[in-house]
Amino acid sequence: MASLLWLAHFLCFLLFHLHFRAASSLPFSFNSSSPAMPCQHDQSLALLQFKKTFSIRSNASPWDFPYPRPYPKTESWKKGTDCCLWDGVTCDTETGNVIGLNLSSSLLYGTIHSNNTLFFLPHLQKLDLSNNHFNNSQIVPQFGQFLNLSYLNLNYSVFEGRIPLEISYLSGLVSLDLSRNYDLILKATVFNEIVQNLTQLQELDLSDVNLSSVATSSLMNLSSSISSLALSSCELQGKFPDNIIRRPNLQLLDLSGNEDLTGSLPRHNWNNSFRSLSLSGTKIPIYLDHDFISNLKSLETLELRACNFGGSTLELFGNLTQLINLDISHNNLSGQIPSSLGSLEALYSLDLSYNNFHGEIPYSFGNLGELYSLDLSSNNFNGEIPSSFGNLGELYSLDLSYNNFSGEIPSSFGNLKQLDTLNLYNNNLSDQIPSSLGSLGELYSLDLSYNNLNDEIPSSFENLKQLDNLLLNNNDLSGQIPSSLESLKELSSLDLSYNNFNGEFPSSFTVSNFGTPKQQSQWSNS
Ligand SMILES: *[C@@H]1O[C@H](CO)[C@@H](O)[C@H](O)[C@H]1NC(C)=O
Ligand SMILES: *[C@@H]1O[C@H](CO)[C@@H](O)[C@H](O)[C@H]1NC(C)=O
Ligand SMILES: *[C@@H]1O[C@H](CO)[C@@H](O)[C@H](O)[C@H]1NC(C)=O
Ligand SMILES: *[C@@H]1O[C@H](CO)[C@@H](O)[C@H](O)[C@H]1NC(C)=O
Ligand SMILES: *[C@@H]1O[C@H](CO)[C@@H](O)[C@H](O)[C@H]1NC(C)=O
Ligand SMILES: *[C@@H]1O[C@H](CO)[C@@H](O)[C@H](O)[C@H]1NC(C)=O
Ligand SMILES: *[C@@H]1O[C@H](CO)[C@@H](O)[C@H](O)[C@H]1NC(C)=O
Ligand SMILES: *[C@@H]1O[C@H](CO)[C@@H](O)[C@H](O)[C@H]1NC(C)=O
Ligand SMILES: *[C@@H]1O[C@H](CO)[C@@H](O)[C@H](O)[C@H]1NC(C)=O
Ligand SMILES: *[C@@H]1O[C@H](CO)[C@@H](O)[C@H](O)[C@H]1NC(C)=O
Ligand SMILES: *[C@@H]1O[C@H](CO)[C@@H](O)[C@H](O)[C@H]1NC(C)=O
Ligand SMILES: *[C@@H]1O[C@H](CO)[C@@H](O)[C@H](O)[C@H]1NC(C)=O
Repeated sequence: MASLLWLAHFLCFLLFHLHFRAASSLPFSFNSSSPAMPCQHDQSLALLQFKKTFSIRSNASPWDFPYPRPYPKTESWKKGTDCCLWDGVTCDTETGNVIGLNLSSSLLYGTIHSNNTLFFLPHLQKLDLSNNHFNNSQIVPQFGQFLNLSYLNLNYSVFEGRIPLEISYLSGLVSLDLSRNYDLILKATVFNEIVQNLTQLQELDLSDVNLSSVATSSLMNLSSSISSLALSSCELQGKFPDNIIRRPNLQLLDLSGNEDLTGSLPRHNWNNSFRSLSLSGTKIPIYLDHDFISNLKSLETLELRACNFGGSTLELFGNLTQLINLDISHNNLSGQIPSSLGSLEALYSLDLSYNNFHGEIPYSFGNLGELYSLDLSSNNFNGEIPSSFGNLGELYSLDLSYNNFSGEIPSSFGNLKQLDTLNLYNNNLSDQIPSSLGSLGELYSLDLSYNNLNDEIPSSFENLKQLDNLLLNNNDLSGQIPSSLESLKELSSLDLSYNNFNGEFPSSFTVSNFGTPKQQSQWSNS
């Protein structure tokens, strides 16, 4: 019986873990076919008391799209009902013990003191309190009491201070995430205990925790099961031990934002299933060549922002057909965009900004139908913007500013129904503004300034009901300023200066919509 129970636990854990790895949003609890034990009374009381420690605040859990929208899970917790059925609570069906608590993004606001009744739940195996506001709580030593804990996530929840040694008692942890608590410090002595004692660890995320006293060599003692290591913006210094890459299961490495981190990474024999590499803003050089890239067939994320790369390398990426995020911005890369880039059909985010790329954008770009964010700004691209951009129906943000694009703005832009931000400023775009732009009902910011656009502002702009920011200055626009712009109730910043408008400024405008006196003064024509 005991071993069956153990097996059930293990299977549950395994299932859970697979879901987590697939970044799925499946519910935390699983239905069991056998009749379940109701919640243990003492644990029910502990949960109700825990609930009372916090208030619900609408701004305690920012909504981080595309994650699920935050809501107050504890509101379903009612005295006299079975706590195993409460939102976010998982019980062992045989014993009625609370073994899982997932209050991620639950709008909780308040402090977790050492006397919190959370610590009366000794059977917890999974604890997720991420994305709440714990008001600069310390991570108290009592967190080290959950001896059966395999999963602990406190990310983005306003903890601060020193991480206690007791965290290293959690020797069964498979996943530990303390990231994005901006004033946490992890001292070298505690870090070394964690690294040595947490032998089951597969996922470790300490991004934004201050690790400045930690010697990078101590990373060599990390568990050989490690599959995901995220140490972004941890103030790590010195040489990163390159043999970490040889950990047999490593699939994700994020060292971005550690400005004083040096070292080198091996050129060959990376694991075929390596998924994600982020070195942005470090001093770790890599050789972006054919040999290196051919190691990385399964790569989904590559972030090499501000890594001092030169040369012409874009063809290399054409074979990385699994790529979802590619950020090679703020380097000194040059050359043209090869049409093979259009075969990266899984791309969600592409950032080539602040380089020296030139030439025309290939028509094949229109194949990147999953793109959500595209930034080609601050390069030397020229020619017309391909009309195939109209196929990028998922685009939320498009930035082509500071290039030499010429010709018309493609009227196919009117198909980009999800677009929130469109930046085309500082190019040589000419002709009329296509009236199809008026169908971008989600548009929040539109900047077409510093081009050669002429003719009138399309009357269809009255449909841009979400528009907050409209910049059309420094063009060749003429005619009347359409009084229908007045119906844009969300507009807070408008610049129409340096054009050739004639006639009166529509008197019906309520100028109070238009922000600061400085912004108002920009109404005047040249
Ligand atoms: C916790 O619940 C949220 C939804 O509120 C879900 O997105 C997240 O994956 C869950 N966490 C775990 C560890 O299952
Ligand atoms: C769990 O089981 C109950 C009762 O059998 C059912 O009403 C409920 O919909 C199930 N929940 C899920 C998530 O399957
Ligand atoms: C939040 O922290 C401040 C400063 O420590 C404290 O005065 C306040 O009572 C705390 N609020 C809650 C709800 O815990
Ligand atoms: C828990 O500890 C805090 C801080 O020491 C204290 O303010 C609070 O009254 C205590 N709560 C209970 C229920 O003892
Ligand atoms: C921890 O897990 C072991 C093995 O599954 C079990 O025997 C023990 O009762 C658990 N401890 C608690 C406090 O749940
Ligand atoms: C919490 O951590 C998970 C896993 O590392 C990450 O995907 C998610 O974005 C984080 N959530 C928040 C709210 O920071
Ligand atoms: C390491 O983990 C073991 C349990 O496996 C525990 O007994 C010991 O106290 C831990 N040591 C430290 C320093 O955390
Ligand atoms: C990180 O911690 C060290 C002390 O360990 C401190 O000197 C440094 O200022 C901290 N960094 C930040 C950004 O707070
Ligand atoms: C690794 O851990 C051992 C103890 O298990 C310790 O003696 C050694 O110094 C550690 N290595 C590094 C590089 O920290
Ligand atoms: C590569 O990683 C996978 C998944 O983690 C693992 O199963 C496999 O053994 C690794 N391959 C090598 C050659 O290390
Ligand atoms: C892409 O893959 C093909 C077939 O595997 C190979 O012949 C070609 O050299 C690769 N190109 C690059 C740039 O890696
Ligand atoms: C950028 O690369 C060009 C050659 O493509 C070179 O002339 C220039 O010096 C480089 N600039 C920097 C800052 O490295």
